[in-house]
Amino acid sequence: MDVVALRTLTVTVTGHTKITIKLKRIVVIGASSSSNSINRKFARYAANLISLKKEIIELDLREYEMSIYSEDLQHLSGIPKKAFDFKREISNSDALVISLAEHNGSYTAAFKNIYDWISVIEADIWCSKPILLLSTSTGARGGKTVLESAHNRFSINYKFKIPFFSLPNFNNNFDSDEGIIDIRLNQDFQAVLIDFEKIINES
Ligand SMILES: Cc1cc2nc3c(=O)[nH]c(=O)nc-3n(C[C@H](O)[C@H](O)[C@H](O)COP(=O)(O)O)c2cc1C
Repeated sequence: MDVVALRTLTVTVTGHTKITIKLKRIVVIGASSSSNSINRKFARYAANLISLKKEIIELDLREYEMSIYSEDLQHLSGIPKKAFDFKREISNSDALVISLAEHNGSYTAAFKNIYDWISVIEADIWCSKPILLLSTSTGARGGKTVLESAHNRFSINYKFKIPFFSLPNFNNNFDSDEGIIDIRLNQDFQAVLIDFEKIINES
């Protein structure tokens, strides 16, 4: 795996003393291949709210399109470079924000294919990074089925607790300027964010 240059921020404290802070590298994944993905918007929004000095790296699934995973193809041609590229971004991160779109009660084909390919690189698929798991949809369940399924799966023997939150009826509950409009939903979301920040700080 490559080693990324550590991004730092130098700030002046008490007039003249300068300290250098390493920025947290937050990788954002909207688990959809839609050009207008609401999950990409939601994941980006959540990452921006994390109150740590950070840089945000967004992985666009459309840039990681690969042949549909099959064991035969893996034996024949090996694991595609794009799977290693995706995995490298995870490995070089300090934390992941993943927002899952739900298609027919499950992962989108675009996300599942990447998930399958990176799962054959090594057992620790998400490189033991802190994960915030989100989902949203235009419907009343907000992608809860896929969120619960991913949460159960990702949590097996995972190094960290995985905070999760689902936002229903995205078009009614989210405003691009104000964020989550519904007060109750926003309170729940903020509590999940605080949990996630704690996990990142302790990681
Ligand atoms: C093929 C297909 C299947 C869908 N299945 C579900 C579903 O099972 N549950 C749900 O809440 N929404 C479902 N939807 C609606 C999506 O949640 C909605 O299109 C949402 O915008 C997807 O997120 P995205 O914009 O990030 O891609 C489906 C949409 C499509 C195109």
